[in-house]
Amino acid sequence: MAEENSMHIETPIVKDDFASAGEASSKVKKTLTMLGVKPSHIKRISVAMYEAEINAFIHGGGGMAYTDIYPDHVVIFIEDHGKGIEDISLAMQEGYSTASDEVRMMGFGAGMGLPNMKRNSDDMVIDSSPGNGTRVKMTFDIR
Ligand SMILES: Nc1ncnc2c1ncn2[C@@H]1O[C@H](COP(=O)(O)OP(=O)(O)O)[C@@H](O)[C@H]1O
Ligand SMILES: [Mg+2]
Repeated sequence: MAEENSMHIETPIVKDDFASAGEASSKVKKTLTMLGVKPSHIKRISVAMYEAEINAFIHGGGGMAYTDIYPDHVVIFIEDHGKGIEDISLAMQEGYSTASDEVRMMGFGAGMGLPNMKRNSDDMVIDSSPGNGTRVKMTFDIR
């Protein structure tokens, strides 16, 4: 992977800042649009990245989003230093959510984030455990 052929974007995900929630994925969406990436790819990348970003915001107490855009693929890495996920396969199930009533009232917590991330990416790796935060890496083929 030649460095000169990639574009790197970093965006902080700030705890409790509801006004800026979704900013990381919207910045990447704008860049992909500017680069002329196919709308179908932009759509699945933005959906998956938005869900990962909101998870880091809602469940992980904030973190960082790192995106690398290559000519044929996009790599998105989102990390937080929150409470971590105890049982990843349980968390991956559709409808499973530990979101509080307060968070649900704000429209989050349908339990579809992780399944949608899995469905919309070509590869997804989650590294998480209680006390060690969460790191999600998603790769998207954009050819
Ligand atoms: N970054 C994270 N940190 C801690 N827990 C997480 C994180 N992402 C997901 N989870 C756990 O996995 C569950 C399922 O996530 P998800 O499918 O996105 O549903 P939702 O966010 O609507 O609850 C969450 O309710 C939470 O318990
Ligand atoms: Mg979610």
